[in-house]
Formats: sequence, C-alpha cells, structure tokens
Amino acid sequence: MLNLNIVILAAGAGTRMRSSLPKVLHHMAGKSLLQHVIDTARLLSPSKILVVYGHGGETVKQATSGNDLVWIEQREQLGTGHALQQAESLLDQDGLTLVLYGDVPLARLDTLRKLIDTTQNQYCALLTAKLQNPDGYGRIVRDPVTKEVAAIVEQKDANIEQLKIQEINTGIMIIPNRYLHLWLSKLDDNNEQKEYYLTDIIAMAVDQGVSVISSRPADFWETMGVNSKRQLAELERIYQREIANKLLDQGVTLADPNRIEIRGDLLCGSDVEIDIDCIFEGNVHLADHVKIKGHCTLKNVKVSAGTIIDSYSLMEEAEIGECCKIGPYARIRPGTKLADHVHIGNFVEVKNSQIASGSKANHLSYIGDTIMGEKVNIGAGTITCNYDGANKYKTIIEDDVFVGSDTQLVAPVTVAKGSTIGAGSTITKDTLADTLSLSRPKQISIAGWRRPVKQKK
Ligand code: UD1
Ligand code: CA
Repeated sequence: MLNLNIVILAAGAGTRMRSSLPKVLHHMAGKSLLQHVIDTARLLSPSKILVVYGHGGETVKQATSGNDLVWIEQREQLGTGHALQQAESLLDQDGLTLVLYGDVPLARLDTLRKLIDTTQNQYCALLTAKLQNPDGYGRIVRDPVTKEVAAIVEQKDANIEQLKIQEINTGIMIIPNRYLHLWLSKLDDNNEQKEYYLTDIIAMAVDQGVSVISSRPADFWETMGVNSKRQLAELERIYQREIANKLLDQGVTLADPNRIEIRGDLLCGSDVEIDIDCIFEGNVHLADHVKIKGHCTLKNVKVSAGTIIDSYSLMEEAEIGECCKIGPYARIRPGTKLADHVHIGNFVEVKNSQIASGSKANHLSYIGDTIMGEKVNIGAGTITCNYDGANKYKTIIEDDVFVGSDTQLVAPVTVAKGSTIGAGSTITKDTLADTLSLSRPKQISIAGWRRPVKQKK
C-alpha cells in the first residue's frame, strides 16, 4: 500500500478578501474553502493530513472538523517552502507527500489520484495548467530538447522569455518523502520576494536526476484559487453550475440551472422538478416525482415521493411523507414529521410536531409541540399555545378531530378522537371523544345602535 502524506498550506493572510474572517474559512457551496480541500484529501486515504495554519489560527481550527488533522503553526509567512519546512519533522521517510492549497478548493479526486499514479511512488509530479493569461503564476520551464519539466520560475523572478510561458504551476505537487527532507533543508530565500519557495525543489529534483511528471486537470476550474471576493463569487458560480449540470444529467428538471443553490448534498429520485431560486442546504433528499416550486429553502429535509412543495416555503430538519402538499408560504421547522397526504398551507408554521396521514392545516396556523392523528382538519388561524413563558407543553389532537377557525388550544391539552371544536374557542381542558366543545361569549345584538361620526372642528 502506498503511504501518502498530505500537507495543506493554509497560513496565508488573504488580505485581498478585505474581511476579518481568515481566507480559508470563507464559504463556497455551504462549507469553508479549507473544508473542501480536507474532504477531498480524506478520500485519498492518506496516512496523515497536516494543515499548516497561521492567520486566524484558533478560529480556523475551531471552524474545521476532523480529529484526524494535525495542525502546524507557521508563525511568520516566509513562503510556501517555509510552510512545508514547518511540517517536515512530521512527514514520513517513505511514501509521498501531496501538497494542496487551502484556498484552491475544487481540485477533483480523480485528478489527484491520476497525479499520484504518475509518480509510481518514485517521481515528482506537478499539476499544471495552460492559461491564456498566466499573470501572477509560477511558470513551468521545460527542457527545450526533451520537453521535460526543468524548473518553476516565479513571475517576479522570471525573465522576458519565461514570462511568455503559458503553462503555469497550480501549486499542487507531489514529492517522494525520501528526497523531500533533504531538499527542504536546502531551500533559500535568494529571490525577488525574499521567500522560501517550495517550487525551487523542482530544479533540485531535475538536478539529481529525479523525473518530474506533469499532468493537467480535466477542467480549468479545478485549480482556480481564491484571493478576492470577486474570485470567490466567480468560482462559486462555476461550481454551482457544475452541480446543476450533474443534476440535469441525472434527469432532474431544473427550470433554470443558473438559479439553484446547493450548499451541501442534494439527492434526487427520478422525475424531480425544481423551479427557480431554490436553496438546498445540508442533506436534502427528494424522492421520485417531488416538485419544488420557486423560492423555497430546504435544509436537512427528507421529502417522500409525489409531494409538492409550493413557492416560498422554508423547511428545516423535517421529514415529509408521500403526496403531501406544503405551502405556498409554509414554514416547517425542526422536529417536524409529516405522514402521507398531509396538507400544510399558506402562513402555517409547524414545529416539533408529528402529523398523521390525511390531516390538513391549510391557513394561518401555528402547530407546535403537537401530536396530531389522522384526518384532522385544522381551521384557519388555529394556534397551539405551547409556551407559558417558562415551559413548553404538548398538544395532542386525536384522529378525526375538526378544529374550527381561530381556535386556541392551550397546552397541555388533549382533543379526543372525533371531537369538534367550535370556531373562535379557547380550549383549556381536554375534550371528550365525539363531542362538540366551544368557549364563546354569547352573541348579543343591540338594536338602534349607531356608528360614531366624525366631530366637526
Ligand atoms: C504559489 C506558487 C506559484 C503558483 C501559485 C499558484 C510558490 C513559491 N509559488 O505562488 O508557483 O503558480 O502558488 O497559485 O510556491 N502559504 C502558506 N505560508 C506561506 C506562504 C503561503 O501557508 O508562508 C499558503 C497560502 O495560504 C496559500 C498557498 O500557500 O494557500 C500559496 O501561497 P501564495 O502566497 O498564494 O503563493 P503564490 O505566490 O501565489
Ligand atoms: Ca496565490
């Protein structure tokens, strides 16, 4: 088995982001740039992942998940070579070290695997790219005869001829550990930027007859870095479009693939339709024939087959059964579990409640901390009063209950099977099965009463 060490360089300040947040913590598609890199790194099954951090140290650590990570502080940022020197004592003697950048979030697993394979566990490997505008990047200098990689020259150190080279160093490289220790100790800062360049290792390799193999990523955006909010936004668009394309390829209908946001994992069954401007966060699962109309946000939600989520609905931490109708303008909050054929209509908020099949709350209601049976009808404006200012209480509504409009159910309270609540009632006591309960002041009519009229000034 190949022994792979991975070092993620993430110590840069990122001043061009113009933000108090460390650069690598800025989010793309719902997770930090660094987390993207770490998640991909893990899939390569390395023996260790070392993260070199500097700016915003503690914040970066706290915001990043994984007990498998080894954090190494680089107090002063003296260059990429210096960054790797900080990690050197923790790198193995055998196997390979793969260097990744914390601000280059989208390098694909396949691309990295391919790069690892090209080394045959003994050569150096570089991920390079050909750019129309190579400005700012290190240039790949090749031997004029053999066309083999000869060196990497940084923009600031390059001569006029070298500046014309369009093949650039993406920064992602692999070096066999048996050479790396020695070469790292030989780096110096005799260059324009007075930095220890990791890239100087390439010339050392060539000098010692160790081949440097290069390969290119399938897609240009895999090696795009983030230095500014503008680049972050551009890369986010590219990435979102990639995700949208994958969904289209799987047969999902997207009204506009440029107007969907996926900040996590969206899993879709067959014949799913998603209208414009929907946001999916965390883990969302949409089963067969689910339709999501425009402007909905779903976070960690499971929606079963045939359900329709109508426009402008917000849903979080919920499980929705088959053939339900939700929205428009519904708010489904954490802990909600709806069985099949449940209808939740406009301006209805459901929180921490279970609703059994065939029940409906179609207008203007709050259902909180409630267990509701089957075939219940909740009239417009019904409120479960679950909170007394200090504690929360449960409302139980059994099967076949009919709750008239504008009713308050003051928890803890049980509305028994088959019972009916008259409109406008405030229910504070449990009801009996199959009875009618109401609490209403008697209606009076005053004959001859006149509406007030405006007084003349
Ligand atoms: C580097 C490469 C250049 C390549 C470019 C690709 C070197 C000398 N140059 O240049 O060939 O074309 O990346 O984007 O390696 N970092 C640290 N500690 C440091 C310095 C940097 O952790 O002391 C980290 C940064 O956070 C970043 C990465 O290393 O993730 C690259 O640093 P950056 O300063 O952007 O390197 P470039 O000068 O752009
Ligand atoms: Ca850079």
